[in-house]
Amino acid sequence: MKSFSFTIPPKESSVNSGKIDVECPSNIALVKYWGKYENQIPANSSISYTLTNCKTKTFFTFQKSTEFNVAVTLDGVQKEEFATKIKKYFSSIEQYLPFIKEYSYEIITENSFPHSSGIASSASGFGAIAKALIKMRDQLFPEKEFSQKEIETSFLARLGSGSASRSIYNGLVVWGNNDGIDGSSDEYAIPFPYQVHENFRNYHDTILLIHEGQKTVSSTVGHGLMNNHPYASLRFNQANENLKKLIPILESGDFKGFIALVESEALTLHAMMMMSSPYFILMKPNTLACIEKIWNFRKLTNSNVCFTLDAGANLHILYPKSEFEHVQSFIKNDLLKYTENGNYINDSICF
Ligand code: DP6
Repeated sequence: MKSFSFTIPPKESSVNSGKIDVECPSNIALVKYWGKYENQIPANSSISYTLTNCKTKTFFTFQKSTEFNVAVTLDGVQKEEFATKIKKYFSSIEQYLPFIKEYSYEIITENSFPHSSGIASSASGFGAIAKALIKMRDQLFPEKEFSQKEIETSFLARLGSGSASRSIYNGLVVWGNNDGIDGSSDEYAIPFPYQVHENFRNYHDTILLIHEGQKTVSSTVGHGLMNNHPYASLRFNQANENLKKLIPILESGDFKGFIALVESEALTLHAMMMMSSPYFILMKPNTLACIEKIWNFRKLTNSNVCFTLDAGANLHILYPKSEFEHVQSFIKNDLLKYTENGNYINDSICF
């Protein structure tokens, strides 16, 4: 694995205050991160597509202060619990940004996706905060050269939320050490470093909101249940192998290989949940109903549409741009009735 050292700035700066606007997209994993060690070190490598429309916008202000404080407003509402979480996060990264507790912060943040959608906001949320912190470091020390900004942003984002490390780059992004991927690291994500066929450079992700609102089991708890999981080591090896298998699939444009691997990853993630102790199920009956419809549609029409899942009930429907019209009418005619309120999000990946 590549070794890396964070460029640590001084503690004192003559800059008293500043304002930073950033935005960061969410991402959808194709090979899933599920299980981690201390300090947000992933138990296996993962790869995701960075989305376009689902993103977080953050307006970040900092002011020199004798009291270190963080206030957070999300979609217009003050959020105590987020403020506490971010304050804790800032304290945890003080070793990399020694100035961090010399200021107090106001963080105003907006998600482009509906708050109730259950879409992971931690990836785009922590990605945006990490971007703001790296910009703040630049503003505090304008005379200094910081040469590895993207890596450092991804590194800091990872310490907030693992999947956030991948949201720093566009396109296909790898996080976690994999001996088949040059430059991969457990500490930060990198853009997928190999050839990607046209077939996979213009992709669509339509997210069906099958269940809106809070999940019954958080990702943090789910990751924790991979400790002492009877299938953990098999799963971690499988994920690393799947990522290696994806390299020639992405290079050659092999839709069938992509579909088989991506759907298997989604179902394996949920199988791990069902085999955890205590066990749990995040899919809903309508998630399964949609999966069956997708399989039937594929069989009947030879389409290359497939699905993946996050740690939740909502289905991500993935398909190439060339099939946009065809799959959109399938979604509208056959799948929307399985959503809770008829809601869905059309997103895309283009790089
Ligand atoms: C199923 O990144 O949300 O979406 O590191 O605890 O914040 P923390 O977990 P998080 O886990 C994401 C899990 C996943 C798979 C993935 O995105 O790779």
